[in-house]
Amino acid sequence: MIYGKRVRLRAIEKEDLPQFVAWLNDPEVRRGLSNVIPFSLTSEEKWFEDLQEKPPPEQSLAIEIQPEENGEWVFVGGGGFFDFDWRVRQAEVGIHIGEKKYWDQGFGTRVMRLLLKHGFDTLNLNRISLRVKDNNPRAIRAYEKVGFVEEGLLRQAYFYGGEYVDMHLMSVLRSAWEEL
Ligand SMILES: CC(C)(COP(=O)(O)OP(=O)(O)OC[C@H]1O[C@@H](n2cnc3c(N)ncnc32)[C@H](O)[C@@H]1OP(=O)(O)O)[C@@H](O)C(=O)NCCC(=O)NCCS
Repeated sequence: MIYGKRVRLRAIEKEDLPQFVAWLNDPEVRRGLSNVIPFSLTSEEKWFEDLQEKPPPEQSLAIEIQPEENGEWVFVGGGGFFDFDWRVRQAEVGIHIGEKKYWDQGFGTRVMRLLLKHGFDTLNLNRISLRVKDNNPRAIRAYEKVGFVEEGLLRQAYFYGGEYVDMHLMSVLRSAWEEL
């Protein structure tokens, strides 16, 4: 278990999969992600099996939050690193909070801060990057709050809901993160 302030990350269990399928098929959650086609529990189970084959640092994690100070922990989403380049010591990071009632309460920011700490302090990464759609200002704001800066814009790099959407490239370097 990896702890932050009222947020924690734990290994994903098989029992979590139906909940992930429900969240990731929710159009509002999916809008920020890249899975545009509805997907099944069967494909999620295949994803989970593949996950077990990966080295532990490369395995996605379940997100739990404590909505009330010292209250119960609640499973709300998932996140983690992918596309590792261990020689360059870089990876991409991704996150989703599937329980929409917990959006805009600072939990996404806290989780991303915790993922950065884990990425830099435990995995010894030097550069953590992400891609975020221009029509996702909530995510962009959360990322800026923890130190992500824009590196570039991929114009019309995504298509959803009948329109092309620009994609921002953002990153945090270890040196900048240490100064925060
Ligand atoms: C993106 C996500 C992780 C953010 O988590 P969150 O807990 O809602 O975010 P936070 O509350 O920590 O921060 C959101 C910030 O955006 C702001 N915000 C919300 N809607 C906004 C909007 N339309 N325009 C500008 N800012 C907005 C909030 O006010 C808050 O900023 P503040 O603390 O300065 O007031 C979460 O909403 C989510 O999982 N969404 C669905 C999946 C997704 O889009 N994942 C990201 C893919 S790149």
